[in-house]
Amino acid sequence: GRSWTQVEALNKELSEQKVLVRARIHTTRGKGKSAFLVLRQRTATVQAILFADDTTVSKGMVKYATQVPKESIVDVEGVVKVPEKAIEGCSQKDVELQVTLIRVVSRAAVLPFELVDASRSEEEVKAAAERGEVLPTVGQDLRLDNRFLDLRTPANQAIFRVQSAVCQIFREALLSEGFQEIHTPKLIAGASEGGAAVFRLDYMGMPACLAQSPQLYKQMAICADLERVFEIGPVFRAEFSYTHRHLCEFMGLDLEMAIQEHYFEVLDVIEKLFGAIFDGLATKYAKELSVISSQYPFDIPVFKPLRLTYPDGIALLQAGGYPEVDPLGDLNTELERALGRIVKEKYGTDFFILHRYPSAVRPFYTMPCSDDPTYSNSYDVFIRGEEIISGAQRVHDADLLVERATACGIPLPDIQSYIDSFKLGAPPHGGAGVGLERVVMLYCGLNNIRKTSMFPRDPKRLTP
Ligand code: 4AD
Repeated sequence: GRSWTQVEALNKELSEQKVLVRARIHTTRGKGKSAFLVLRQRTATVQAILFADDTTVSKGMVKYATQVPKESIVDVEGVVKVPEKAIEGCSQKDVELQVTLIRVVSRAAVLPFELVDASRSEEEVKAAAERGEVLPTVGQDLRLDNRFLDLRTPANQAIFRVQSAVCQIFREALLSEGFQEIHTPKLIAGASEGGAAVFRLDYMGMPACLAQSPQLYKQMAICADLERVFEIGPVFRAEFSYTHRHLCEFMGLDLEMAIQEHYFEVLDVIEKLFGAIFDGLATKYAKELSVISSQYPFDIPVFKPLRLTYPDGIALLQAGGYPEVDPLGDLNTELERALGRIVKEKYGTDFFILHRYPSAVRPFYTMPCSDDPTYSNSYDVFIRGEEIISGAQRVHDADLLVERATACGIPLPDIQSYIDSFKLGAPPHGGAGVGLERVVMLYCGLNNIRKTSMFPRDPKRLTP
């Protein structure tokens, strides 16, 4: 075969060499006997010039090149040239291609929107408006309806590299702490997080649900002596929450572990894990983060582990302008964000853990505190004042579990095998569930979870 060169590899060292690239037409411009194209491969761009010299390149070929629709995929043969001055606007500024042959591999139809418009920052739009200029922007629904095009913007390319990195670091950090990866069923008989927000379906004539979390199965893995487990898998929630942070399907990063004495052992693992994620992103993905930031400006979040008890969190809120907050109720989005601001001001961190939640606001499987069952051995973790993790020590006593499930109105037959798994001896254990899309959204200070889901599922969207 012929040898292909990647656009991002085009540099001065290849000067005067003949190369072959496959790329998209990013832009085209004709001028007299010349055509100026910008070729794009992923996020790398290079200028390509055709000049009608009546030997290798005809006038017809120049015309043909200017008429290839934007976003079409082309094969281009050319010679690498070093221009007199750098080509502004291209990632490969120091070189250009003198095209000898261009062939369309896949022709693009009319675009629903222009990528330059979809790549524009709000700042740019605002600055233009101040000059009296109106720059087009692309609305979220139009973007999502055409996600396969929208994903080609530099910021989106970077967002999903960061998403991939979070999973990789999660996996590596936990493997190095003695965890093993598991895969639990997503087709299950009953609800795992309470009955309300569950997708019900027919399973060979039997009623079934899509798993709302790996909760019950990851605990059964602990009962089966796997000791430390994690899973990266889809989670389904039939919630009619049309908000900036809820999806009907998201990626759950779950972990579960046997503990010796205290749920703080789980918090130690979580803090180490997120230390690795924050550090890994800031050091190895600085380029991606700056690309995201150039469209959606944000500051890298500060990671200084901090643990606050729920009552301490409530006291901070009460002292910080929210005197009415209910010490035994749950925190709504507004209160969580307020606490995030207060914590940032007082402790200088964007990452903190709130633990010892009131039992009444936690799921049936949560272990009550031994000194005061009004509270529980549970925790949420926040980035920029929004929840990314929820977890707890679990009830490992079958009788107490039956009592708690009954009190919470969970039909016992649905969870019989789960309860049975504790009857044969179960170690004290705890764990946590992380929402991947939320981690990326909040790390990058993005305003909507749909930006960090490749093909988001929400109450109004099932396609593409
Ligand atoms: O708080 P949740 O529902 O907790 C559980 O699923 C427990 N089984 C976890 C455990 O181990 N005890 O979900 C865990 C995390 C949340 O903190 C949030 O980050 C994310 O999953 N999450 C969602 N993300 C997107 N859309 C939704 N509808 C989400 N619901 C929860």
